[in-house]
Amino acid sequence: MTLTSSNPGMPGPGVSTSPLRDPAEPHVARNYSPIPVTAATAEGAWITDVDGRRHLDCLGAYSAVNFGHRHPRIVAAALGQLDRVTLTSRAFRSDRLEPFCAALAELCGKEMVLPMNTGAEAVESGIKVARKWGYDVKGVPDGQARIVVAGGNFHGRTTTIISFSDDPDARNGFGPYTPGFVRVPFGDAAALASAVDENTVAVLLEPIQGEAGIIVPPDDYLPRVRELCTRRNVLLIADEIQSGLGRTGRTFAVEHWGVVPDVYLLGKALGGGLLPVSAVVADRDVLGVLHPGQHGSTFGGNPLAAAVGHTVVDMLAEGTWQTRAADLGAHLHARLREFVGAGVVAVRGLGLWAGIDLDPGLGSGKDFCLRLSEHGVLAKDTHGSTLRLAPPLVVTESEIDWAMDRFATTLTVSDFTASADAAQTR
Ligand SMILES: Cc1ncc(COP(=O)(O)O)c(C=O)c1O
Repeated sequence: MTLTSSNPGMPGPGVSTSPLRDPAEPHVARNYSPIPVTAATAEGAWITDVDGRRHLDCLGAYSAVNFGHRHPRIVAAALGQLDRVTLTSRAFRSDRLEPFCAALAELCGKEMVLPMNTGAEAVESGIKVARKWGYDVKGVPDGQARIVVAGGNFHGRTTTIISFSDDPDARNGFGPYTPGFVRVPFGDAAALASAVDENTVAVLLEPIQGEAGIIVPPDDYLPRVRELCTRRNVLLIADEIQSGLGRTGRTFAVEHWGVVPDVYLLGKALGGGLLPVSAVVADRDVLGVLHPGQHGSTFGGNPLAAAVGHTVVDMLAEGTWQTRAADLGAHLHARLREFVGAGVVAVRGLGLWAGIDLDPGLGSGKDFCLRLSEHGVLAKDTHGSTLRLAPPLVVTESEIDWAMDRFATTLTVSDFTASADAAQTR
């Protein structure tokens, strides 16, 4: 059945407005609950909505827009490639793939790259590689491989990945679940050590947990995990899909603790905010376990993605983005700390990445984000009254100050209370 509406964006005759439908987007599956701002265009750190209002993007598509919306150098690379060749599948070679993989491997200090598309695909691929490595190299009995993960993890939405999530929204109703995972509390190196046994092939961690609320582990955690993995012949897989590629003030978040994982999982910003590009990056003794026919993706490593990803790698290799994120991040965190005790309970994070625990008495993070968006700042809540900020790294200090002034206005009790009341009636 085709539903038509004479007024785009409004439900037409016969279109139900049941709670299963968003009246603004009746044909879009309701797996998200977006802030009611409808983007029409975007540039740099700013999004302009369909009514011409400008909003400072302080989410950066969950770090996928690290270099800002439509960065001219990345757009130029994409346009150049659109005029050449965009898709061959991996059945043939393209002249873009090997140079991209060589550059990305060098950025990571590794030897090989397995190109994929979305972050979840990179995680799935990393899991498959770790299991295969466990059987072929470590000598784990077939079907017995175990991977240790952290409580509060977020690695994506596929059935295997949600199998080891402890978030009921992500997990409940989607079983049966994939076995082979053991979950231990994040930040607890002793718990992790006792979960490792002779069949453990990998420890899979976000160095800083994003979705959980930008949780930074204790300083000795990742070095202890690294030491354990080396001693027990277990792969350390760092999911840097959100934390990596400049966000925290380093190319990779693990660098803050001097840790080098065996496997990097990358995504989001690798696509320059233009298209999905992800990768598993490791040395030959790990990625070399894959042979033709054992893994693949029609779009993985396509010439357009490779051209864009290569440009992103070249930009990061210059080192200025990391410095910028560190310097502006210090400013952002200093400004945010001013609110602690005045509507904010705690602030966490590194670089241009912040988790902010709002006073739960003031209402939910969602209410706060709605109100903040009315003041021209776009952010996103996570779990209850926690807010996360991940503005594009092109944001300026004065734009951060502008956002912080609006944050302060939104925090004032009268403003926030009004929003909470309005939300109740929505
Ligand atoms: C740490 C981490 N891993 C994996 C993913 C999944 O990436 P994607 O949504 O591209 O599948 C995300 C997405 O937010 C993430 O934050």
